[in-house]
Amino acid sequence: MAQAISAHTALAGVLGDPVRHSLSPAMHNAALAGLGLDWVYLGLPTPASVLAGVVEAMGALNCRGLNVTIPHKQTVAALCSELSPLARRLGAVNTLVPLPAGGWLGTNTDVEGFLAPLRYGDAAPADGWRGRGAVVLGCGGSARAVVAGLVDLGCDPISVAGRRAEATATFVAACAAWAPALKPLAWEDLAAALPEAALVVNTTPVGMAAAGDGEAARRCPLSPEQLDALPAGSTLYDLIYTPRPTALLRAAAARGLPCIDGLEMLVQQGAASLRLWTGLETVPVAAMREAAIAALKAGDPGAD
Ligand SMILES: NC(=O)c1ccc[n+]([C@@H]2O[C@H](COP(=O)([O-])OP(=O)(O)OC[C@H]3O[C@@H](n4cnc5c(N)ncnc54)[C@H](OP(=O)(O)O)[C@@H]3O)[C@@H](O)[C@H]2O)c1
Repeated sequence: MAQAISAHTALAGVLGDPVRHSLSPAMHNAALAGLGLDWVYLGLPTPASVLAGVVEAMGALNCRGLNVTIPHKQTVAALCSELSPLARRLGAVNTLVPLPAGGWLGTNTDVEGFLAPLRYGDAAPADGWRGRGAVVLGCGGSARAVVAGLVDLGCDPISVAGRRAEATATFVAACAAWAPALKPLAWEDLAAALPEAALVVNTTPVGMAAAGDGEAARRCPLSPEQLDALPAGSTLYDLIYTPRPTALLRAAAARGLPCIDGLEMLVQQGAASLRLWTGLETVPVAAMREAAIAALKAGDPGAD
């Protein structure tokens, strides 16, 4: 049962611009109700021009924890009193944890969220991912967390395919200290790399439903020929969760390939944030998943 909001109710929330479509409030409030915590989690629309002031004010208001989403994941790092080693390595923060002496610890739970279905889901190979090839499509913000996760799993080789050679090279250089074997791949050369891929992760927004644009949801980042080049049993992981399934995952499922969409990553990064804020080892993940799915069904295309 949800607590009635009172003068004792504590605040948590997500900072972003926009946050109107975020599934995080539905997910976290379901968890808070399940835990019987007198907190409320809000979507806090935060233009870049007020980010620093909002982060400081949230600290002053005894806010229990914040998520940070587009477009602030990189810039918020400079507003943190401390950064976790992972946030420092990725150059991106998605979770702020209040420090006892004031200020915020900036950390990142996207890697943990990304890894959860690869470690425990139906697509997880019995003997793990070590030594298996992975191809990452796209080299933007979320691709860094994905590459960090793939390094953690021991995937080898790992390639990242970008549509702009310069951006791909810059991405690989930025990851070099902790992903020295990461290889840049031109989009045109994907067909050559895909036959070695036990795992393909789409981090581009291609195929994401945009309000009022049904055509966007029909787009697929891989051509039928590229999909046909994948070996039997190759797993397709699409970070997108609107629509469910995406055109990429529909095409992969039609070829009998195991599929993972982005919803579990969203749920698991949220659960990891909540564990950090509460200090609890166990949070109601099933209630978070159910609430996210219900909010997705009820609302516009989500984004986080
Ligand atoms: N499930 C989750 O929890 C979760 C978490 C984070 C992100 N996501 C989803 O992941 C997607 C990417 O997010 P992001 O923050 O990484 O975005 P981002 O920083 O904008 O990066 C997107 C990447 O995709 C590339 N790209 C865009 N359009 C392309 C096209 N038509 N063909 C080939 N490459 C293209 C971009 O290349 P250019 O630089 O050339 O444009 C860039 O490398 C979004 O759909 C987001 O909703 C999901």
